[in-house]
Amino acid sequence: MAAIQIRDISKKFGSTDILTQINLTAEDGEFLVLVGASGCGKSTLLRLIAGLETPDEGTISIGGLEMTGVPPAKRNVAMVFQNYALYPHLSVFENMAFGLRQQKKDEAFITEKINSTGEILQISHLFTRKPKELSGGQRQRVALGRAMVRDPKVFLFDEPLSNLDAKLRQEMRIEIKKLHSILKTTMIYVTHDQTEAMTMGDRIAIMRNGEIEQVDTPEKIYSSPKNKFVASFIGMPQMNFIEGFLQKDDGNLEFKNEDLQFTLNRSSAYKSQFENLEKVVMGIRPEDIHDNLFAQIKDTSNTVTAKVEMVENMGSHKIVHFKIGASGFSAELRNFNEHDEKIELIFDMNRTHLFHPEHGGSLYEA
Ligand SMILES: Nc1ncnc2c1ncn2[C@@H]1O[C@H](COP(=O)(O)OP(=O)(O)O)[C@@H](O)[C@H]1O
Ligand SMILES: [Mg+2]
Repeated sequence: MAAIQIRDISKKFGSTDILTQINLTAEDGEFLVLVGASGCGKSTLLRLIAGLETPDEGTISIGGLEMTGVPPAKRNVAMVFQNYALYPHLSVFENMAFGLRQQKKDEAFITEKINSTGEILQISHLFTRKPKELSGGQRQRVALGRAMVRDPKVFLFDEPLSNLDAKLRQEMRIEIKKLHSILKTTMIYVTHDQTEAMTMGDRIAIMRNGEIEQVDTPEKIYSSPKNKFVASFIGMPQMNFIEGFLQKDDGNLEFKNEDLQFTLNRSSAYKSQFENLEKVVMGIRPEDIHDNLFAQIKDTSNTVTAKVEMVENMGSHKIVHFKIGASGFSAELRNFNEHDEKIELIFDMNRTHLFHPEHGGSLYEA
């Protein structure tokens, strides 16, 4: 068991900044997900932890021991990649045994270790097969098994499920989480997939262009995004952003633009340093907009009439794209009368967000 501490890590390739002043801690036994768009530096950070790259600045410690100068093999870290990197000419058993044989473990130990790991992963019946005789999911399990038999202090996953089809990905997501609850080893899991991040992470670190934007539980990331980038990155369909102005009216805070006017309920949480800000961006998630016809709680001051532009049928619900004047947005509606061209919508003002028009920071206290 081991915490991972990343302190002020910076890394350049040539003259390009890839990572800038990264500070991040994965607690002992934590499942930390690092999520961000392709190219933002996730793999580089993972490779730095594993010792496959050297930082320009900063330190990384694992289990309280600083790793500067410690070679990869001595870090007690196991990495699982997207391309499983199994040896094609070796059987499943021998693939799993490979690292242990290099460590000169005795045969009884190896057999016992691989048997028990094979049982957890339900791959014992595949031991004599070669990688090419396995499905994608089975190969991924063998790659996991090969990492597990080494009893590492830390698991690092680099987009391990990206090559699998959607159904299998969902199954493996659950399996890896189950595995974590059995092993209780510290795990850092890299992905560009927000669903994996939300469903798997004890906490999520959101990365952009070599920097970390927010580290929080999935609940916090979703309900209190620190900025517009985080708000837009997590959530499907994306949060709606509407530009407008703030106005004070009898102590109430109002949001206005040419087409819309709302009374904001969260004014007590409004950060006082932005008191005189006029131009803002309001954010509201599609599920926080309701059809007035079916809504349990009415709110006449925050009800608007919108024109239906397009409807996406998702089976259990519909994503309806609306327009009010020039402002476009989408709502997730369970009940919706397809034939209505115009519809009355309630915006749930307890669940709106406000962002700075330039730097995008949240104007609410977390
Ligand atoms: N060895 C390298 N030499 C030069 N540039 C690299 C090298 N490895 C990665 N990069 C660049 O660093 C950036 C971050 O890459 P990477 O960490 O692989 O991103 P991610 O895993 O988030 O997709 C990318 O722009 C990539 O092209
Ligand atoms: Mg990568």
